[in-house]
Amino acid sequence: MTAPPGNGHDDAAAAAAGFAGLPLPVVLFDAQGRFLRLNEAAERWLNLSTRSVRGLSPGDPSLFARLRVAAEVPALLAAAAASEEPVHRRRVTFQIGDRAGGWTLRRGAVHLSALPGGGSVAAIVPDGDGVEPPRRGARAAIGMAEMLAHEIKNPLAGIRGAAQLLRQGLGPEDRDLADLIVAESRRIVALMDQVERFGDTSPPRRGAVNIHDVLDRARRIFELTGRAPRMVSDYDPSLPPALVDADAMVQLVQNLLRNAAEALGRAPPPDPLIRIRTAYDGTVRADTGEPLPLQVEIEDNGPGIPDAIADQIFEPFVSGRENGTGLGLALVGKIVTDHGARIRVDSQPGRTLFRLSLPRAPDPRGPHPHRPDSRHPEPPR
Ligand SMILES: Nc1ncnc2c1ncn2[C@@H]1O[C@H](COP(=O)(O)OP(=O)(O)OP(=O)(O)O)[C@@H](O)[C@H]1O
Ligand SMILES: [Mg+2]
Repeated sequence: MTAPPGNGHDDAAAAAAGFAGLPLPVVLFDAQGRFLRLNEAAERWLNLSTRSVRGLSPGDPSLFARLRVAAEVPALLAAAAASEEPVHRRRVTFQIGDRAGGWTLRRGAVHLSALPGGGSVAAIVPDGDGVEPPRRGARAAIGMAEMLAHEIKNPLAGIRGAAQLLRQGLGPEDRDLADLIVAESRRIVALMDQVERFGDTSPPRRGAVNIHDVLDRARRIFELTGRAPRMVSDYDPSLPPALVDADAMVQLVQNLLRNAAEALGRAPPPDPLIRIRTAYDGTVRADTGEPLPLQVEIEDNGPGIPDAIADQIFEPFVSGRENGTGLGLALVGKIVTDHGARIRVDSQPGRTLFRLSLPRAPDPRGPHPHRPDSRHPEPPR
């Protein structure tokens, strides 16, 4: 470098020029640990512009609405500045504000090195954006399970019928045992029914659906079970209709509500709460490029998804609770995939958020250049 020693800003600027086009998020900090520059990848990943954060430290309270970093980040910066050796930390959490007023949690490994003239440079290796359902994954296993389910249901009906008949000739104590057989066979049949639902390859019957009706329906059914914690709905009333299969969506939302309630029941926080939110975000797209502008968020303040299964929750038969069959989210994943939609989850103790992104139904009036929907214009294709 040509900059004289001691001129940290010039070194940093030279470094920034070199890092600008790197695909990894890279952030330069000055000697006081304040933001100096973000490369493009960092601006995208942190959803911040250099201009808006320059001169602020990552923990600055004025940044709280847009970025919250783990408390260790300022400490890491100090450690890097004081050390000749680079400092590494894995799985650092960044809580990143989005335009819809919500949050996305992102994790990544942070590699920090001191710059020769003061200041430091941080490269972030993202862990991947939340957890998403497997693309195709477990279909083969499900096909097998589906076949088994079918085979198991028949003899089970026989066992249940036999237990019911036996019961009639038994004394009160033995009746309990017969009842147990009947109840447990019923439980297995319910499980097998769920497995068979995976095998249903018929495409979803998609139509223009008011997603708030779906959410209210799912919420009402769930509240009728009597196991629902306090729920708060926060809807964007101007949301256009979604292009979805309403029944499948009700099923999906119910599965998410049930999981949230179960988690809240397992380790209740002081004020257990499920929040259901909707919002419009024209920038969200499927991998195919199809716009998925309708956002539905289901958030709970429970204990969070256990670390051990966090990466596999959309796989069938992965469960983190006693008596869980691990099919709820696998079915959610299937419905989402069938719709060409997306679901992501961000979870930490005290906050678990499932965000569903759905396609919008075409305007029945057809696209019309002179009649733009000014609140929610269609994103360009
Ligand atoms: N909101 C949540 N908070 C904490 N953990 C969750 C949440 N949602 C899901 N999980 C975890 O993910 C696991 C898988 O969920 P899934 O719905 O697939 O299966 P399950 O609830 O265990 O069983 P099933 O839904 O088939 O009765 C759960 O067992 C739980 O450990
Ligand atoms: Mg479940």
